[in-house]
Amino acid sequence: MTDQPAQPALPAVHPTVPRCAHTVDDRPYSTGLEGVIAAETELGLVDGANGCLLYRGYRIGDLVAHGTFAAVANLLWTGTWEPNARLTAGVVPPAVMATLRALPRTVKPMDALRTAVSVWGTTQVLDWPPSEVQARALTEFSPSALAAFVRLRDDRDPIDPDPKLDLVSGFLYQLTGERPDQATARALDAYFIVGAEHGLNASTFAARVITSTKSDMASAVVGAIGALKGPLHGGAPSEVVEQIHKVGSPERAEQWVRDALARGERLMGFGHRVYRAYDPRATALRKVVEAMPTRPNWLELAIEVEDAALKVLEEKYPDRPLKTNVEFYAAAVLQGVGLTPDLFPAAFALARHAGWTAHIIEQASANRLIRPDARYIGAEARDLPA
Ligand code: ACO
Repeated sequence: MTDQPAQPALPAVHPTVPRCAHTVDDRPYSTGLEGVIAAETELGLVDGANGCLLYRGYRIGDLVAHGTFAAVANLLWTGTWEPNARLTAGVVPPAVMATLRALPRTVKPMDALRTAVSVWGTTQVLDWPPSEVQARALTEFSPSALAAFVRLRDDRDPIDPDPKLDLVSGFLYQLTGERPDQATARALDAYFIVGAEHGLNASTFAARVITSTKSDMASAVVGAIGALKGPLHGGAPSEVVEQIHKVGSPERAEQWVRDALARGERLMGFGHRVYRAYDPRATALRKVVEAMPTRPNWLELAIEVEDAALKVLEEKYPDRPLKTNVEFYAAAVLQGVGLTPDLFPAAFALARHAGWTAHIIEQASANRLIRPDARYIGAEARDLPA
């Protein structure tokens, strides 16, 4: 043993202990940030009172009637309307494919997609600021990754993208192995347009918060997928189908709705944080589904359920209009094009890639770290127990 010099006493961390007292904080606080303006955007206007949705000034109904998902995504990214804009399915990098192969088969498609985007991010150079090129690459990648996951979990080999097909047709081809007919591809394309953008919803806000830290686009989209996954946001359409099956027949619709509300349940596909009027996306998708050659056999029943739900919700909440939201008819379109209900939330995520990435670009273009305050309602400063 050698003689050690005596240890000097540790200096006090705080020469004087701060008081840490919190004063009454009477700044406005809104639970769920309802009614709070937290960003400025040129991308989407959600006019909930009038049931109106605009992408860069263009009405959603017109975009569905005359546009394509590629043109809409391009509009969101660049601000210019190019009707012939094109997107095609991207290639799944080997690292992503290996990860998808390693996932348990029971993994939910949204979780697989979130994981795929995360691994994809590790295979890319995603420099700051996030760009249209990055947005395009990610939006083209994700449908291929989701299709590959679905095939792998069903013991089928993934299918390489066909560059001759547009993104939505290419996704269906990579999923099923068959090139879709025009009507089916058109219906899913319309769904993608309707799902592309919706203002500062929870997942878009999550993407903007992550971007505001100067993190990369893949990280922001991973966070957005995580937010979209919850049943209060993007998880509703599969539950719409379950609900309609539970109703069973048109004559049971009204009583079923009354009983469900009496049990305190929420009717899936109804109500919205912003819309007080009928959701214009539901209007657009109802038209799409009614024009589809292959409609789900429960569509007539769904219309009965909708009528009953609107009537009973109005009786129960005369002062808070609760109308049909996008998820109600989304379920019908997605089932009509052959997707199984477990894929509905992930299909929504594929469509929303356009809006998320456009918001990420917009956030970065005038970036300020998003860092709100919380009102502290915990204990006053106190000493640790001895
Ligand atoms: N069914 C029954 N009652 C409802 C519904 C519904 N779908 N939606 C709202 N209510 C009731 C609430 O229970 C509440 O009643 P209370 O005051 O007696 O407690 C009242 O209406 C007000 O509802 P809020 O919770 O304040 O509405 P909020 O804005 O928070 O919720 C939401 C919006 C989450 C979409 C809600 O309407 C809901 O849960 N809907 C069903 C799920 C759904 O369809 N989600 C998809 C939304 S669209 C999208 O994200 C793309």
